[in-house]
Amino acid sequence: MASSRNPVADNPQPSPSPSSGGDAPYISVRALWKVFGKNAPQVTAPENEGKDKSQILADLGAVVALQDVNFDVARGETFVVMGLSGSGKSTLVRCLIRLIEPTSGEIVVGGDDITRMTDKDLTDFRRRKIAMVFQHYGLMPHRTVLDNAAWGLETQGVDRDTRYQRVREVLELVGLGGWEDSYPRQLSGGMQQRVGLARALVVDPDILLMDEPFSGLDPLIRRQMQDELLRLQTELHKTIVFITHDLNEALKLGDRIAIMHDGAVAQIGSPEDIVLRPEDEYVGEFTQDVRLETIMTAAKIMVAPKATVMGHQGPRAALHTIAASDGDAAWVVDRQEHYLGMLSISSAQKALQLGVRRIDEGWEHVESNYLPVFPDTTFDQLIPVAMGSDYPIPVVNENNTLVGEIHRSALAEAIAETSAATANGGDGTAGIP
Ligand SMILES: Nc1ncnc2c1ncn2[C@@H]1O[C@H](COP(=O)(O)OP(=O)(O)OP(=O)(O)O)[C@@H](O)[C@H]1O
Ligand SMILES: [Mg+2]
Repeated sequence: MASSRNPVADNPQPSPSPSSGGDAPYISVRALWKVFGKNAPQVTAPENEGKDKSQILADLGAVVALQDVNFDVARGETFVVMGLSGSGKSTLVRCLIRLIEPTSGEIVVGGDDITRMTDKDLTDFRRRKIAMVFQHYGLMPHRTVLDNAAWGLETQGVDRDTRYQRVREVLELVGLGGWEDSYPRQLSGGMQQRVGLARALVVDPDILLMDEPFSGLDPLIRRQMQDELLRLQTELHKTIVFITHDLNEALKLGDRIAIMHDGAVAQIGSPEDIVLRPEDEYVGEFTQDVRLETIMTAAKIMVAPKATVMGHQGPRAALHTIAASDGDAAWVVDRQEHYLGMLSISSAQKALQLGVRRIDEGWEHVESNYLPVFPDTTFDQLIPVAMGSDYPIPVVNENNTLVGEIHRSALAEAIAETSAATANGGDGTAGIP
C-alpha cells in the first residue's frame, strides 16, 4: 500500500511479513456486465456492440452500469476503484458479493466462482471471507459501540465472552479503546466510521470491501482515517477493494487503481502509471493537476546499500569497507541486517584513534538517530530529509531491515525528469491541450 505514514521510520518495529499467496490473483473478475432494465440480455448482442451507455439507454431503455469489466487483485493488495458519480463503482463492489446479481461474467475469489455459488455457500462466504464498510456507517442506534462492533461475530454464533474479548482488541486497534459502552449518537462521524471499521475487522475477513467509507467525513478527519487505514494495513495485510471518487485518496491508498468511466474500466495501473502514463484523454484530464512528488516513491530511486558494517566489527574494518565503497559513510546493521545507524568516515577515524575495538562499544560513534525512510516514502517527504544531510538516506522495510539507500543526486535527477514529464503532459499520449 502507498503510505503517508511518518516519512521517516522513527520507531520501526519488526512485524510479520505479508502472507504470500503465490502468484495467482486472489480476486479475478472477467467480462463482468451489469445492465439494469428489461432488455438487459440484448445489450451484449452483436448489433449493439460498440454503442455507448447513452445510446443503449435510448435504443433499449437499459442502463449499462458495468461493461466488460476485467481486473485481478492480489492477496494483500489495496485495489482502488475510482470514478465519478454514476460510473458504476458501487454496482461493481456489490456484484463482487452478489448483493447485485451480475448480468454476465465471472468473479473468482480464492479459486471459487462466486457467480456459481449456491445460496448457502454464498451466505457462508459473505460471513466469513468478506466484510463491507459503507459511507453511511449503518450502526444500530440502540446498540453500544461494543455490541455494534460485535455484530458479525454474533451472527456467526460466537459466544458472548469470546466475542467481547475479540471486539475489545479490535476497538483498541482502531483507536476506540474506552468507548465500548457509548452509543453511536454520542460519537463523531469519524469515530462512527471507526466503529464501522471495527465491525468489519472483528470477523477477521480476508477481503475488505470499502465503498466510499470516508466520503462523508470532514477533510481533516478524512485524512486521519486514510492514515489509520494505511497503518492498519501494514499490520493486517488484508485484500482491500476500496471505492472512491477522490483521486488524491485513490493515489494515497491504492497499490493499484482502476479508473472507471461509464461502467467500463478506462485504465488500471499503479498511482505512478495513472499519473505519468495516462492511456487516454479521460484519464489524462483526471490526473493533470497531480503533483508528481506526492506519488513518486523512494523505491523508484533507491540503490543497494554500498557499505554496511556490523556493530561488532572494528573501526579499521569499517574504514576499509567505506573506502572500498567510494563513499563517506557506512550503515551499521546487526546480524539480521536490521538498521542501527550511520557511521561516517570521520567517526570511524576517531574511533580508531581512541582504540575502540567494536564500533558498537558505547555507540557514541554511530549516529543512531540518523533515521531511515521506507520504500514507499514519497518524494515530497524525502526532499526535506535529503536537504538535512550530506550523506545518502538509508531505506528500511517494515521489519527495519536495511534494503537500500538514496543518493541526493538520484533524487534531484528524478525530480527534474518528472517535472519534464509533467510539462509534456505525461508521456505525450494523453495530449491535454
Ligand atoms: N437499481 C438500479 N436500477 C437502475 N439503474 C441503476 C440501479 N443502480 C444503479 N443504477 C445505475 O447504474 C449506474 C452506476 O451506478 P452506481 O451506483 O454503481 O455508480 P457509482 O459510481 O457508485 O456512483 P456514486 O459515486 O454516485 O456512488 C448509474 O447510471 C445508475 O443510475
Ligand atoms: Mg456509489
